[in-house]
Amino acid sequence: MVTTDYLVIGSGIAGLTFSVKIAEKFPDRKVIIVTKANEDESNTKYAQGGVAIVLDKEQDSFKKHIKDTLIAGDGLCHEAVVKLVIKEGPKRLKELLLWGANFDVNANGKFDLGKEGGHSEYRVVHHKDITGYEIERALLERAHQLSNITILPHHFAIDLVTNHHIESYKSETLSCFGAYIFNQNTGDIFTIKANSTLLASGGIGCVYGHTTNPVIATGDGIAMAYRAKARIKDMEFVQFHPTALYEEKGESSFLISEAVRGFGAYLRNKKGHRFMPDYDERAELASRDIVSQSIDSELKKSGEPHVYLDCTHLDIEAFKGHFPNIYKKCLERHINIETDWIPVIPASHYLCGGIKVNKKGKTTISRLFACGECSRTGLHGANRLASNSLLEALVYAHNIFKHHSKHDYKSPDIIIPDWNDEGTTITEEHILIQHNLKQLQALMRNYVGIIRSNKRLKRAIKHLDLIYNEVEDLYKESKITTSLCELRNMINVSHLIIRQSLDRKENKGGYFNVDNVKSTR
Ligand code: FAD
Ligand code: SIN
Repeated sequence: MVTTDYLVIGSGIAGLTFSVKIAEKFPDRKVIIVTKANEDESNTKYAQGGVAIVLDKEQDSFKKHIKDTLIAGDGLCHEAVVKLVIKEGPKRLKELLLWGANFDVNANGKFDLGKEGGHSEYRVVHHKDITGYEIERALLERAHQLSNITILPHHFAIDLVTNHHIESYKSETLSCFGAYIFNQNTGDIFTIKANSTLLASGGIGCVYGHTTNPVIATGDGIAMAYRAKARIKDMEFVQFHPTALYEEKGESSFLISEAVRGFGAYLRNKKGHRFMPDYDERAELASRDIVSQSIDSELKKSGEPHVYLDCTHLDIEAFKGHFPNIYKKCLERHINIETDWIPVIPASHYLCGGIKVNKKGKTTISRLFACGECSRTGLHGANRLASNSLLEALVYAHNIFKHHSKHDYKSPDIIIPDWNDEGTTITEEHILIQHNLKQLQALMRNYVGIIRSNKRLKRAIKHLDLIYNEVEDLYKESKITTSLCELRNMINVSHLIIRQSLDRKENKGGYFNVDNVKSTR
C-alpha cells in the first residue's frame, strides 16, 4: 500500500491546477497524480476556442458574462456559482501566465479576444486554436518542477476506497480513503491510501460513439463516485457540439471550433441555404444547444448526413493565423476552406452534469472532492456557455486548494484490505467487450441523442440492462483490464443519463424530449 496526503485522479487542467497549487503551498506534503494514459492525454489537451474571461472592461463586464451564462443555462444555473466563477477569472488567468502559459496578443499588446456562441462580447482568451494544448504543456512543466508531486502515467483508478471496504471502521459518515489502482504496464493492482482524494477524471464523450473527445473520456470518475454512493446530478444535460468534422467512415470527430463561427463562418444546408437565421436571431452564434438542435432538424428534413460550414467569404490569411491547426487538418482531408465548404455534424462534446459538489468542491462523500468536467457545480445549468469549462476547472481547483489550506485532513488509523481478485482469470473475451461497447455506443447515439422521447429512453434502458448483466458477469470472473473497466464505467454513466433523462419532465437547454412541452426561453 502506498500512502499520500493527496491523491489526484486525472492530469487535465483540473487535476494539475489543484496539484500545482497545493504542492507549491505545502512542500512537505505529498501529492500523487494517477492518470490512465500518457500524462498529457486529456480533454484539456484538445481544447481549441479558449477560456472565457472578462478582460476588456470598456466593452465587456462581469455582468454581461454572467447574463450570457445564465441565458445559456436556461434557468437552471446556480446564480451564486455563476457570479463566483466569472469574477475569479482574471485572477486565475494571472496564475496560468505565471506558470508559463502563453495566450495570443494583438498589435496593441492586449489579449486577442475571440467570440463564441452565446457570448455577447469578445472575451475568449486563446492560444491560436490549440489553447488546451498550451495550458496542458505549461501545467505539466510546472508540476514537474515540484518535487513533492509524483505523476504515475498509465495507472488506472478502478474504484474508490470507502467505509464499505473496511470492516473494522465504524462510522456514520461515508468517507473516502483513497483508491484501488491498476498499473497498466505491469498488471499489478495496489492501494493508494490518501488523506484526501480528488476526482479530476474528465468527461464521458466516448459513451456516444460519435464524439469530439479523445478515447480517455469514459466517465470513470463519475461511475466510481456513483458506485461509492456519491450524489450524481444533471446527467441528462449532455452537450452536443454543433460542428464536428463529418467523415464518411464516422470515426474521427475533429472539432471545428465555435470560434470559427465567431470569426464569421456560416452554416448552410446542401441547397446552400444559410439556415440558422430561420431558427434564432443570433444565427450561427446562438448557444450550442440551439445550433445543434437546428442542425438536427435540418438533417431530419433533408435526410442528408451533414450540413456545411462555409468560410469561403472570410479573410483566409487572417483565418490561417487564427486557426492554423483547423486549416491544416481540413487540408489533410482535402478540404480547402478557401473554396470548399466544411462538412460538419453535431457530436457529443461535454457533460454539464456530474458529481455534485458544493462551492469548495466537496462531494457528498467526506474526504472526496471533484473538479472539472466530472463535477457538477451548478455553473452550466442546462447548457454550458462555450469556453466556460476551462474557467470552471481553474476556479474550482483554486477553491478546493483554499479549503485544503485551512483543513489538514488526516486519515484514521485503518487497514485497507488488498484488492481481491481470487477466482478470476485472464479474460479471452476481447470480442465480447468490443461488441458490447459498439452496442452501447449505438444505443446511446440512436436512443439518447439530441432529440429524445420516452419510448426511446425506455427502450434504451431495456437494451442497457442486457449489456449490463453480460458485462457484470464478465467483470466478476475476469482479471482487470482497462477496456473492461472502462466499458463497465460507461454502462454506469449511460444508466445515469437515461434515468435522469426520464426524470426530467420539462425541456431545458440541451435536453429535448418530444414528449415534454417545450419550455419558452
Ligand atoms: P480532462 O482534461 O479530460 O482530464 C481527465 C484526466 O483524467 C485525464 O488525464 C484522464 O486520462 C484521466 N482519467 C480518467 N479516468 C481515469 C481513471 N480511471 N484513472 C486514472 N486517470 C483517469 N472547454 C473550454 O472551456 N474551452 C474550449 O475551447 C474547449 N474546447 C474543447 C475542445 C475539445 C475537442 C474538447 C474535447 C473539449 C473542449 N472543451 C473546451 C472542454 C474542456 O476541454 C474540458 O471540459 C476540460 O478540459 C476538462 O478538464 P478536466 O481536467 O476536468 O478533464
Ligand atoms: C470550441 O472551440 O468550439 C470548443 C469550445 C468549448 O467547448 O468550450
